[in-house]
Amino acid sequence: MGDEKFLPSSYGLGTTEATLAHYEAWAGTYDTEIGEENRYAQPERCTRALLASGVGPDARVLDVGCGSGLSGVALARGGYALIDGCDLSPSMLALAVETGAYETLFEADLNQGLDVADATYDAATAVGVFSFGHIRADALRDVLRAVRPGGVVVVGLNDHFWDEGSMPAEFDAVEADGLATTTFRQHGEHLPGAGIEGWVVTLVKTGGDA
Ligand SMILES: C[S@@+](CC[C@H](N)C(=O)[O-])C[C@H]1O[C@@H](n2cnc3c(N)ncnc32)[C@H](O)[C@@H]1O
Repeated sequence: MGDEKFLPSSYGLGTTEATLAHYEAWAGTYDTEIGEENRYAQPERCTRALLASGVGPDARVLDVGCGSGLSGVALARGGYALIDGCDLSPSMLALAVETGAYETLFEADLNQGLDVADATYDAATAVGVFSFGHIRADALRDVLRAVRPGGVVVVGLNDHFWDEGSMPAEFDAVEADGLATTTFRQHGEHLPGAGIEGWVVTLVKTGGDA
């Protein structure tokens, strides 16, 4: 049972129901398969991007699709102390609680909307969550809504989903609609142990002081 690998089928998911079942089954071995065996690089890369954007350690950060907490643990190591997280999968959230990196954790299906008041957060991260059958590209607008004007959203995603096209199109569309400006785009390691690369993209929400 512990030998079952879930990463390959992650890129073939087509519905939220299938994705939920996938992570409910994977939760117990996710950190080992992703964090250890495949040396997941995106949590650290996204934290570096957030720090480089000028968002300080006292910022309120929402980690969207926090999963088991690898992304929140990287944020905490980067000095952030006020981190909330949300995710579709209760079993992944239960692991995130154990990390101690988060203040508040809540269940959410981002494709159904984020139940958070406008401008609640100084920043948001979405690490490995915009993908096939996962969070759809258009949910980026809801994430931006939850961040204050001048706040920052950092997205980390794999090459497979970048090449699908909806995310680069959405980054361009939110900029064309005057909602945010892309300030950083970097290609690099995603899961080096599996030979998968990916992108980190930083957006600054329109208005306010960055
Ligand atoms: C690859 S994991 C990434 C988790 C964490 N951010 C990390 O970097 O380790 C993808 C996460 O996205 C969550 N997810 C997928 N679809 C979602 C949705 N519609 N709404 C919220 N979370 C979703 C999954 O439950 C899973 O925990």
